Amino acid sequence: MDSTFRSVPALKQLFAADFKIGAAVNPATIRSQASLLAYHFNSITAENEMKFVSVHPEEQAYTFEAADRLVAFAREHGMAMRGHTLVWHNQTSDWLFQDRQGGRVSKELLLERMREHIHTVVGRYKNDIYAWDVVNEVIADEGDALLRASKWTEIAGPDFIAKAFEYAHEADPQALLFYNDYNESNPLKRDKIYTLVQSLLEQGVPIHGIGLQAHWNLFDPSLDEIRAAIEKYASLGLQLQLTELDVSMFRFEDRRTDLTEPEPGMLEQQAERYEAVFRLLLEYRDVISGVTFWGAADDYTWLDGFPVRGRKNWPFLFDTQHRPKAAFDRIAAWAAEKRP
Ligand code: GLA
Repeated sequence: MDSTFRSVPALKQLFAADFKIGAAVNPATIRSQASLLAYHFNSITAENEMKFVSVHPEEQAYTFEAADRLVAFAREHGMAMRGHTLVWHNQTSDWLFQDRQGGRVSKELLLERMREHIHTVVGRYKNDIYAWDVVNEVIADEGDALLRASKWTEIAGPDFIAKAFEYAHEADPQALLFYNDYNESNPLKRDKIYTLVQSLLEQGVPIHGIGLQAHWNLFDPSLDEIRAAIEKYASLGLQLQLTELDVSMFRFEDRRTDLTEPEPGMLEQQAERYEAVFRLLLEYRDVISGVTFWGAADDYTWLDGFPVRGRKNWPFLFDTQHRPKAAFDRIAAWAAEKRP
């Protein structure tokens, strides 16, 4: 890998007075991207290793080896760590929803298992993790329904959401607790997320922040939509974080597969987009406490192959060789000037 990323100012320094700069990592990238991560980022999130299915594959078996390695990396480099995620409809072990005869569990048993899980996982990382995505993606994308139908809602109704926050708060009263979701800047979904979080606050549920996943692309969402979402969420008096930022080169519906390199025009467009996004985020630095990318450099992104199989994507500020891209240069040039 190229080490020109060291000849530019560190991203985390440029925004040191504003918010943490994070990256999602996994056991492979803490090796392959170690120097880049250590130089530019001051926070990490486990990409998959703390999800239910990863740490709790069987009722009596917790598997923490991979998660522990990521925590050790954060410690070694003096980085903050976000926990991701405690309650979700995906990547959650089937046993959780089944009783010992293979039938469906009762609501009571499900909540009891959830409590035990949350206490074990949050308790284990009490000294290392400062913030948790407690509940991930429970809002329905379309239609009138507030919540997405899932095994959680089928068995427990809506109550599991408040309970998850209560249990996480019991397990670590210091931890900052977040509700996290995608399409967070879409007006319909934004208003539903707002409604959910407002009702949690009215019930006195311990929730401290909203995570805007921010899986964005060159075209969507618009800056106005992002701004409106930030304003609306901030009006609840909570802190906000971008938790999974990436800027895909393709519209979600775009199925093209012909590119093996980004076109120069795309890199320029991405640079403009990133600069505009960071300018906007800086306007809200009082409410935004963290900006985490869902990866660190273009050699590894979950967008390779998603949603179009076999297609490469280039969503980050650093290229496949870890060299700063035009998008990095634009953010850095502007950030360096913005304070006299
Ligand atoms: C969601 C989840 C993340 C991750 C991404 C795709 O945003 O919150 O954990 O699975 O999807 O990589």
